[in-house]
Order: sequence, then structure tokens, then C-alpha cells
Amino acid sequence: MAETTTPAGLPKGFRSAELGWPELHRIPHPPYRLPLLGDLIGASRRTPLQDSLKYARRLGPIFRRNAFGKEFVFTWGASLVADLADETRFAKHVGLGVANLRPVAGDGLFTAYNHEPNWQLAHDVLAPGFHREAMAGYHTMMLAVAERLTDHWDRAAAAGRTVDVPGDMTKLTLETIARTGFGHDFGSFERSRPHPFVTAMVGTLSYAQRLNNVPAPLAPLLLRRAGRRNAADIARLHRIVDEVVRARRADGGGDGDLLDRMLDTAHPETGERLSSENVRRQVITFLVAGHETTSGALSFALYYLSRHPDVAARARAEVDRVWGGTAAPDYAQVARLRHVRRVLDESLRLWPTAPAFAREAARDTVLAGEHPMRRGAWTLVLTPMLHRDPEVWGADAERFDPDRFDAQAVRARPPHTFKPFGTGARACIGRQFALHEATLVLGLLLRRYELSPDPGYRLRVTERLTLMPEGLRLRPQRRTAPAVPRARRTAGGTVSGSGRPVRGTGE
Ligand code: HEM
Repeated sequence: MAETTTPAGLPKGFRSAELGWPELHRIPHPPYRLPLLGDLIGASRRTPLQDSLKYARRLGPIFRRNAFGKEFVFTWGASLVADLADETRFAKHVGLGVANLRPVAGDGLFTAYNHEPNWQLAHDVLAPGFHREAMAGYHTMMLAVAERLTDHWDRAAAAGRTVDVPGDMTKLTLETIARTGFGHDFGSFERSRPHPFVTAMVGTLSYAQRLNNVPAPLAPLLLRRAGRRNAADIARLHRIVDEVVRARRADGGGDGDLLDRMLDTAHPETGERLSSENVRRQVITFLVAGHETTSGALSFALYYLSRHPDVAARARAEVDRVWGGTAAPDYAQVARLRHVRRVLDESLRLWPTAPAFAREAARDTVLAGEHPMRRGAWTLVLTPMLHRDPEVWGADAERFDPDRFDAQAVRARPPHTFKPFGTGARACIGRQFALHEATLVLGLLLRRYELSPDPGYRLRVTERLTLMPEGLRLRPQRRTAPAVPRARRTAGGTVSGSGRPVRGTGE
């Protein structure tokens, strides 16, 4: 007989809220609920997250929605989220979009269930790859990739052209994680169209999001063609990743990057190693998680900088002051860009590019002393709304203001009110990596260009589990002063910042 429970003794598959929230009736839902269909009136298939933000504003800090009989509880009020951050009573819930990615990433770090042994194993083996010493080693490679971006923008500036911000940021962040983590070169800046890895990734992320919008039994029928495309996308991701691993094995090892850790490092206590299948899942996980969200974060930050010339001028003055005439800022000089970092934090406050995370009750408990939850009951935290809770961020929470992140203001806020990287044991392992990369790149771009917005552009946010400012274009103009020397050139872009050769992909 098929197993109906998880090893933790919880029902397998989607757990509707009626099962775990005994007092669900006290949680508000949208009006005009339809039998069988649920809260579908006015719902958008393409922007489910922004739909939920709309309902959040109307229904308050905790509310529920129903789609085809599946009931979800959403939470965003600061005191509720602070309670959900208690790791003794709550843990990550792998559901909805994250669970839909299981066919691609299986028990990789992001999609693993809490009880799966490969989570702890991979976490312990890979975490040192994000410690300070390792991070400092990635810095030179990050600079080398950023130089490819500025070469590209220099050409656009000379020709008076605009640049495709999300497209270019995606090239930059994909190349950065590929080189630093895997010694690999996707050649993104030499391509006129996105690399097939990116196309396949966007396909699988969008498909995972669409799966939430159809009743599960009808998915094979309603999404038949999309399902076939998704299977082809997954196969392509596997092919590309297998090639990256094969090349590394053929080289007999790299210089201790993430891929080396995945292939060669044994767990310090148990001596266990990742299996080949798990390595494949981790490589996909890191290539996807390691670039998609950072690319969005950079794009939103550039959007706000172009719309707030006063903020851009202040950040630029800081870069000029801290970096002076240094051609290639060093690792420590990036951490000293406090104002640039605040611009990034404030962009991630308004548009956290991984806009939700789910928490489940580890045992029977009462959420914030008000809402009883049975073990296994779960809720989706809406991060963009948490980051706009007027009780924490004030009545002007929608306003872009990086000073909200000056040290004094941060200290004055209660804990767990800013959560772009999730929470607890399953929070983002790549947080420092992303923040260092994005601060460095913003610093380099501010130092080199004035960024003129297209006056007709109105922010539209696209969703494919992650968020991105759709169609954002900027006109970079080279600054005339102060004179900035060129960073050490890399030979044709085929040598990494560390001087070691990188592999290219044949796709
Ligand atoms: C601005 C950029 C980023 C944002 C906003 C972001 C956000 C997040 C969030 C919210 C989670 C928790 C998800 C959950 O609870 O279900 C997460 C987990 C994760 N992130 Fe990131 N991330 C970013 C960059 C990165 C980078 C650069 C890497 C890798 C180099 C990375 C790798 C991961 C992994 C592997 C996990 C799963 C960790 C675990 O469960 O043990 N992320 N990220």
C-alpha cells in the first residue's frame, strides 16, 4: 500500500488549512467565495503574489484564500511573524512553489524536507563555502565578471543606447555564481539571447508557479503542453549541469570551490559524502538560487537609484570617498559602502525578490497566543507586506527611504521585521554572497555612470516565484569626473579573477 504519511508522521502532499487550524473560521477571507472554485473572482494567474498583497491590505495581518478547495493561510503582521520565527515551535514548510520544484531539485538544499538526511549533510559540507575566508576568495572573480558588464554598458553609453537592466543583471549574476562556485563560464555576455540554462530555468520556475493555479487532479490535462515543455526544460538543466560536473572530474578538481566541496568533501563528523544524484540537485539549486534573486535585487535597486537622483548622488559620493582612485576595490572596501548597502536593503524591503516563505508548526501550538495550530499546520509569510507593516515601518512604509537602515534605526526596530533571506536554520545560505556581490556591483556602476530613467516607465513587477521589474531599461552615461582607472583586465574574459582557467559550456 502507498505511504500516506511522511516519516515525521504527517499527512503526505498538500495539507489544506482546515486540517490544521481548528479555529480557521476566525481568520478572514475575501468576499464572494464560490463553491468548488474558491476565491477566484478577480484573481490573476500571472501575479498571484501581488494579488495576495491586495487582499492583505484589505483583510489584515492574517487571512486565508481558497483555490479549488485548497485553503491557505497567509501571515504578515510583524508580531505574528516574530512568533513564527521561534525555531523551537516552527520550522520551514516545503509547500506550494517550493514543493513544485521538487522534480527539478529533489532533496537539494532549498527544496529538501526538514527530515531528509541530505539537508544536514549538504548544509554542513557547503556552509564553509560561505564563510568569510571563502567569500574573500570570490571577490576577485566577482570583479572580473562585473568588468564584462561595464564593457557592455560602456558600448551602450558610447552609442547612446539604453540597456536591458534585468537581462544584464541576470547575465552578471549567473556568470558570477557559475565562476565562483563551479569554475564555469556560460559566456552570457557574448550571447545575443539568454543562455539555454536561463531559458530552461525561467520555464521551470514559471511552471512551478502555474501549478499552484490549477486543481491538482486536472493539472496533467490542463497543463499538458506546458508539462511537456517543463519536462524538456528539466532534461536540459540536467544535461547542462552534468556537463559542468563531467568537466570538473576530467580536470581532476578545481581550487576548493563549491563544486569541489560537493564532489570531494566528507562530512567532518560522519565522513559521509554527497551522492552523484544529490550533487546534481545541489548544482542546479545553487546555480538557480544563486543568481535569480540577486539579479532581481540589483534590478530593483537600480530602478530606485534612477528614480531618486538625490539618493544616487549620496551613494555615489560615498563610493568616491571610500574607493578613491582604486582601480579594483578590495574585499574590505565593499563592506565600507554603508549607504550603498542601505539602498540595497531598502530595495529588498519593498521588493524582497524571494517574496514569501512558509512555516509549519513543529508541535501543537498557539500562534501569537491567538490562533491554535496543530502539528504540521502551516502558513505562508508574505514578506513584502511584513516589510510594509505600518506598525513597524510607519504610515509612509511605501516610500523608498534608505535611511530606514541606518544603524540607529535598525537597532530601534523589533527583531524579525526584515526577512528578505527567510529565517532560522533554513534561512538563505548565500546571504553574504548576494549582499557582497550586489554592493560591489552597485558601487562600480554608480562610480562609472549616471543612470537616466526612461521617463515613461512605470514599475511593473513580473512573478515567476521570484520578482523582477519587468521591461526596465536605463540609459547609462559615462561620468566625466573623477577619473577612474580601469581595473586589471582579464584576458578576453576567459580567465577568472583568480587567474585560474574557467570552463565554457557547449550549449
Ligand atoms: C538577494 C538575493 C537572495 C535572496 C533574496 C534570497 C532569499 C532566500 C530565502 C527567502 C530563502 C529561504 C526560503 C525558505 O524558507 O523557503 C533562501 C534560501 C536559500 N538560498 Fe537564498 N537568496 C538570495 C541569494 C542566494 C544566493 C546568492 C545563494 C547561493 C549562492 C542562495 C542559496 C540559497 C539556498 C541554497 C537556500 C536554501 C537554504 C537551506 O534551506 O538550507 N541564495 N534564500
